[in-house]
Amino acid sequence: MVMRVFEERRSIRRYGDRPVEEEKLQAVLEAARLAPSWANMQCWTYIVVRDPSTREAIAATLEKNPAQRAVATAPVLIVACADPERSGKVKDQHYYLVDIGISLEHLCLEACNQGLGTCWIGWFDEDRVRSILGVPENIRIVAMTPLGYPAVYPEARGRKPLEEMVRYERW
Ligand SMILES: Cc1cc2nc3c(=O)[nH]c(=O)nc-3n(C[C@H](O)[C@H](O)[C@H](O)COP(=O)(O)O)c2cc1C
Repeated sequence: MVMRVFEERRSIRRYGDRPVEEEKLQAVLEAARLAPSWANMQCWTYIVVRDPSTREAIAATLEKNPAQRAVATAPVLIVACADPERSGKVKDQHYYLVDIGISLEHLCLEACNQGLGTCWIGWFDEDRVRSILGVPENIRIVAMTPLGYPAVYPEARGRKPLEEMVRYERW
């Protein structure tokens, strides 16, 4: 099952009008909740935005982002926030980014499993989104994703072959 979802997941940038059922929304949030994290500190907070005017306002900040329209048109926007103080930092490696990466990807994979689409959005103006959503200064807004039923299901984007990404025993 997991491998099927890995293979079928796509970044979805075109959404239909069909609303997301509450059970499905709760299922994807539950998947995010179950993620591993630094010392199990679960540094994340998710903001679920359904209000069209808020989604429009955030979309308006995403000039040139290929996912801009998706934020305005998908029925739900999920914004992934992290408290860096509730995660680890080792030699300039900030593990709150890893924590959010795992948790949000759990959410995206369960969304795919439920027939829903998502698209990671990492390129945005954090200050403008912070102001729209009233996120406190000590909290980082790491990523967001639209959530809804795909209207267009794109072809798979290629990946490097295993030989290019794996070394055995040492670099
Ligand atoms: C950390 C991260 C940030 C991303 N930011 C954006 C973004 O700002 N806008 C966008 O349209 N796609 C964004 N993407 C989606 C990637 O472009 C996409 O995952 C990649 O092209 C592979 O396509 P696939 O997800 O359909 O397999 C992001 C993906 C990741 C993992």
